[in-house]
Amino acid sequence: NIYADSKKASAWVAREMAKVINEKGKKGETCVLGLATGSSPKTVYAELIRLHKNEGLSFKHVITFNLDEYYPMTPDSIHSYHRFMRENLFDHVDILPGNFHIPDGTIPLAMLSNYCKEYEQRIIEAGGIDFQLLGIGGNGHVAFNEPGSLQSSRTRLITLDQSTRAAAATEFGGIHLVPKKAITMGVSTIMNARQIVLLAWGERKAPVIQQAVEGVVSEQNPASYLQAHPNTRFVIDERAAAEL
Ligand code: GLP
Repeated sequence: NIYADSKKASAWVAREMAKVINEKGKKGETCVLGLATGSSPKTVYAELIRLHKNEGLSFKHVITFNLDEYYPMTPDSIHSYHRFMRENLFDHVDILPGNFHIPDGTIPLAMLSNYCKEYEQRIIEAGGIDFQLLGIGGNGHVAFNEPGSLQSSRTRLITLDQSTRAAAATEFGGIHLVPKKAITMGVSTIMNARQIVLLAWGERKAPVIQQAVEGVVSEQNPASYLQAHPNTRFVIDERAAAEL
């Protein structure tokens, strides 16, 4: 789906998410959302908040799982994805406190592998992800699945690419302050979602979008794995579509 700008695109995505949330609610079932951070989803979250305030969209039966978190990272840090999610969505809607999950960047290293298995288990116990929102890194990463990530990968600790750390440098006040690692859902964790929407705005993303959509499926561009998913849509603005 190509839109003139990110605002129009985000309005469409938020409506699509609201549809899934409402359909599940009508059936008395929980709705499981996979959520992303970064600048791209901010406009979608703003629209979801608007739908909550103006149209009564309720999140009381919604359970969420976030894709990733820097490691190490404390939840109250201004750079944490916990804080991002509270500020951009959770503090403004009626989601129940125990119903959102974000990888915990404070887990001791020795316990991390078990923790990642438990995170996967919690997704399965919740019924699997109904709707997964994704962004894309300039190098094709989805969540923090950097180039080289296998299609079979699951939630794990990953070493961040230099280009990923460079992209976050301004936010952190210097590349040396960007964590070297992150906890991320795996490619196969993401591919198990029943519906996926990937967002990309601006000309900066045009080359990687072209590669992900029209290039060969390759671990060099993890977003290209999505070509094999039966219900994935890239929702992008005209500038990100410039090289298609
Ligand atoms: C980070 C996140 C990704 C996100 C990417 C792109 O690396 N871990 O999930 O997709 O940034 O961010 P932006 O949307 O700001 O371009």
